[in-house]
Amino acid sequence: MSLLMETRLLLRKVTDLRCLTPKRHRVKEKWAATRTKHPPTSLALQRFDATYSLQLGETWPSVRSALLSERKYGALINNFCHNAVQAELQSQGCRDFISHTDEDAQPGSDQESEVQAESSDQQPSSIQISPNIKCLVFPRGDISRFKPARPDTHGLLGHYLMDAASVLPCLALDIQEGHTVLDLCAAPGGKTLTLLQTQRIGFLCVNDSSVSRAARLQKVLHSYIPREFLNDDKLRSSCFDGTTWGEIERNTFNRVLVDVPCTTDRHSLMEDDNNIFNKGRMGERLRLPQLQLELLLAGIQAACPGGEIVYSTCTLAQAQNQSVVDQAVHSAREDHGISLQVVNLRPLTHMFRKTFHFAPDLPLGEMVIPHLAANFGPIYMCKLKRLT
Ligand SMILES: C[S@@+](CC[C@H](N)C(=O)[O-])C[C@H]1O[C@@H](n2cnc3c(N)ncnc32)[C@H](O)[C@@H]1O
Repeated sequence: MSLLMETRLLLRKVTDLRCLTPKRHRVKEKWAATRTKHPPTSLALQRFDATYSLQLGETWPSVRSALLSERKYGALINNFCHNAVQAELQSQGCRDFISHTDEDAQPGSDQESEVQAESSDQQPSSIQISPNIKCLVFPRGDISRFKPARPDTHGLLGHYLMDAASVLPCLALDIQEGHTVLDLCAAPGGKTLTLLQTQRIGFLCVNDSSVSRAARLQKVLHSYIPREFLNDDKLRSSCFDGTTWGEIERNTFNRVLVDVPCTTDRHSLMEDDNNIFNKGRMGERLRLPQLQLELLLAGIQAACPGGEIVYSTCTLAQAQNQSVVDQAVHSAREDHGISLQVVNLRPLTHMFRKTFHFAPDLPLGEMVIPHLAANFGPIYMCKLKRLT
């Protein structure tokens, strides 16, 4: 149904309701005083209707309905907590989507699984999924909600609720024993927690330029990770502008996660507070692709030769996804003399194709698309390997 028809139907319903209310009980709403005429959520919907109907074609109406419906969460199990959270959640019907992959690409539930495949134009991927990352979800079509996490005797919480698709960029990062890892835009910390669950990291640097969000990240870390680990010199926290990282620490990290600020499509459609479609934030929104490009380039420079970088967003927008990666690969080669290879993530996403809806045949990277029966995402990710 077109936006215009939907609006007309809605208006008719409102008028019908008004007819049922006796005139003396009707309250005349004060538009200007009570609400803005164009709330950011409506502006976001207008913008998405214009761009995504072209980008996604006939799939846009179903993606749109999913985006406007309640999202689904996953519960990341905290291995540092002593509560038997996993068993408890399993008894409620949840399953770990990482160990219960889809038939033909089965890893053992408590062994490392290796994903390998060849592709003609992209680097073959070889990812060893850590058996320690566990994320429980309710079955497809089941929209039950998780209960809040409870602390164990040491005060550590048992699970962290996040979009289950957000775990995928962390799996794609393929952390191996002793790796040095940079999480360039880390707050509020869902992906940092996921990376820490591997218990393989040699040194982790978590950064976020926003002071308030960096404080939130610290709070999350203290609620989930033992104090002795946080005080260890294996973890460093910072609050720098990530775009300058290439000037500070070049050719250093085995793995870099660049989970950039974006139009956060779901949030932009559901919440007027802190919404990037707020009229006053138009400049910030239009500058996003440039900021994303600079952050990705900084992440590429921070990785060591042979190191790997995962770029991720939670938007469907091509201009913030494929275009950014495309420009970064070009600029890394032309301006910084760094050659990169795109790593094929299709074997990884294939393993999880019954949990998530993936965009078919994306030319660059992989994307989880929201769907009413599996209402995760959007999450876009693309993996690059530094050759020089
Ligand atoms: C999508 S959020 C990251 C989410 C986080 N990775 C997680 O999983 O919880 C993007 C983050 O980038 C941060 N950010 C924005 N501009 C930045 C910059 N120039 N350098 C570093 N971080 C930045 C924002 O404060 C925000 O916390």
